Parts: sequence; C-alpha cells; structure tokens
Amino acid sequence: YTREEVGRHRSPRERVWVTHGTDVFDVTDFVELHPGGAEKLLLAAGGALEPFWALYAVHNQPHVLELLREYKIGELSPEEAPPPAPDAARDPFAGDPPRHPALRVNSRKPFNAEPPAELLAESFLTPNGLFFTRNHLPVPDVDPGSYRLRVEGPGGRELSLSLSELRSRFPKHEVTATLQCAGNRRAEMSRVRPVKGLAWDIGAISTARWGGARLRDVLLHAGFGEDERRAEWHVCFEGLDADVGGVSYGASIPYGRAVSPAADVLLAYEMNGEELPRDHGFPVRVVVPGVVGARSVKWLRRVAVSPAESPSHWQQNDYKGGCRPSVDWDTVDYSTSPAIQELPVQSAITQPRPGAAVPAGELTVKGYAWSGGGREVVRVDVSLDGGRSWRAARL
Ligand code: MTE
Repeated sequence: YTREEVGRHRSPRERVWVTHGTDVFDVTDFVELHPGGAEKLLLAAGGALEPFWALYAVHNQPHVLELLREYKIGELSPEEAPPPAPDAARDPFAGDPPRHPALRVNSRKPFNAEPPAELLAESFLTPNGLFFTRNHLPVPDVDPGSYRLRVEGPGGRELSLSLSELRSRFPKHEVTATLQCAGNRRAEMSRVRPVKGLAWDIGAISTARWGGARLRDVLLHAGFGEDERRAEWHVCFEGLDADVGGVSYGASIPYGRAVSPAADVLLAYEMNGEELPRDHGFPVRVVVPGVVGARSVKWLRRVAVSPAESPSHWQQNDYKGGCRPSVDWDTVDYSTSPAIQELPVQSAITQPRPGAAVPAGELTVKGYAWSGGGREVVRVDVSLDGGRSWRAARL
C-alpha cells in the first residue's frame, strides 16, 4: 500500500487503517474494544501509530504488538520509504515531507498544522510527528553530507562548519524547551475581534528535548566575546528555505541573549533524541527558549553578528508588537514597533473542548500553562461560571 491509500481509511465507514513500521493494519473491528476509548484510536487513523505510542507508553509491550498482528493486512510498498521526488517546477511544495494525518492543518502550502488539542496535556514532551509545524515556505531538501553553516560578523573569524564539525567540535548540550508561535489561539481572539493570519486553535505550542551545540560556544570559538562593545548588537539567522525570488527566511535575537550561558540558545541537530525531522529544520535549527518561535530559525545556513537586527521581512514587517489596542494590521507602523522576543504568560484548557457534553458531577479538566523568558508559572486560576468565581487549580 501507499501512505496515501492508508490515509484514506480514517473512519469505521471507510475502515480504519494504521501503520506500524512498514506494516499496515485494518483495526476497524478493534476500535470499540480499544481500552483507551474509540476516539483516541481514531485520532491515529490513516497514519503511523508510533507518535501516539510515544505519548501512551503503555503500548510499548510485546502483547500489544501481538494483538496488533492479528489485524495486519499488508505492507507499505518499498517506494514509500523515501519522500516523493520533488517536482519544483510545477509545485514548489511537491518536495515537502509526508506528515501525520492526525495533525490539524491550518494551511497545506506552506504547511502549518497543530497537534489535536486534547493530546497536548497528555505528555510533557510532544512527539516529533505531532509537534506543531509553522512553515512560511517550502521545506528545503538538504544533503547533510554537503551542508555548511557559515558564522561571520565584524570583529570575528569567519567559520564554515560541516554537520559533523558542529557535532564533534562543540560539546552537545540538551535543553527541554517549549516553542510557541505568536499566533497561538488566534481563532479565539478572532471571535472577540477579527484578526488577520492563520486561525490557530490552542496547539501552536509544543515542547521537545533539543540537543545540539550552544550558540554561545560557537560564537566564542569564532572570536565573539561577552564584551560590552556589542551590548546593543544582534545575532541574525538565515534559513535555507527561499521564496521564488530566492529570498530566505530570517530573524534575529539580541547579542546578549545569544552569548548568555543562562539563555541556553542552541544550534540544535536533535529533537527528542532523534535527528531533526525535515519539517522542524533538518539538519540544524536555532532553538531560543522562552522567545517567540519565529526567532528559532530552521534549516540554518548563516549566523551573522551585526550592529542591526535582521533585515528579513519576518523581523522587520511581521512578528512585531503593536503598542496600543487601537493599532492593528492596517494601521501599524512597523518601523517604530518593537520586534517580539520574549512572550508573555499563556494558558489553555485542552480537555474538555469547548461545546463538549460532559457528565454531571466531578470533572477532570486538563490544560497547559507556560510563560516566556524562562519565568515560572506559579498559579493557575480556573473560572467556573463564566468568570464570576475563580478557583486556584492544582499544578
Ligand atoms: N525558520 C525558517 N527557516 N522558516 C520558517 O518558516 N518559521 C518560524 C520558525 N523558524 C520558520 C522558521 C516560526 S514563525 C515558528 S513559530 C517556528 O519556526 C516553528 O517551528 P516548528 O515548525 O518546528 O514548530
């Protein structure tokens, strides 16, 4: 079978198919027997079981695989393993990687999608296949063998690092960090007042354990130190993804954050213990913990120390904070608005979802709360009756 064929089987009516490794299973007759509930199994319908089993580790037992084997109907065809060959002339997105059908898609080209809300609070780490994806451009197809990362700027040495040099010359550092897009929960905001942009629900946020070289170590190696001279400077990043005119995605962070040992800014090549997936920046991306996701540039090709912020459209004319409630997309003056860096506190209820029918009596409510800049969340309050009374929730 092809993945596309498997993807057409997502409900009991059209049969429920899933894959594990290269095996294909028709689990329709098991849906109602699933100990975790039929709904949970249906979330995985049409795609791979692995990201769900990473969330619900109870599945990683021999008897579960044995049970699954009874439902095997075939295998993925051998041509299915590599991603489809790009046909960039016809469609610049033709070379994008395959994605898990459980993702809630907000736009297919470029690909923007979020995990199902009810899965977000199930596990602290979001499995790679379900991590939200925010792409502005087609996903570049990078050959790790010929990949080079350039590091440069006034007063430093110019470096050109291969992937293996980045891995071997600098100590590997691991950080658990949440990335959030500035547009998270925009769909809700739009119900108060229409806002332009992708209608993200509450899932433009995900957490992973990132592994890579510290940006600080690489900058020090290139001769950039912690000296005061560069207090007002910036570190600019450029991606390998480009629009039809060859303009690539870019963003910058203040120099002080880039060289701060406490800020943990990474040039990451691992995500949850695996190499970075293509959608999340293979082979190397920046991860800036506590800062808006837009600065964590994927498919990184250049790091440039500079007296000015990145000239990129996404630093200069997008991802900026309007300073008054009256300012909106049509009236904003981008040149005087500050670029968003650290994000404020954010929280959402993942379960039950709005409008869900719930049983009378006691109810378990799940959700997440997070704050940017490394600040801790100390208390969560839940409104019980439309805001008339509040309870502090157990953390
Ligand atoms: N880097 C490149 N090169 N191109 C992009 O489109 N999107 C940015 C950032 N880095 C982007 C990028 C935005 S807006 C966000 S929110 C994060 O990547 C999302 O990272 P993710 O797709 O791994 O969740």
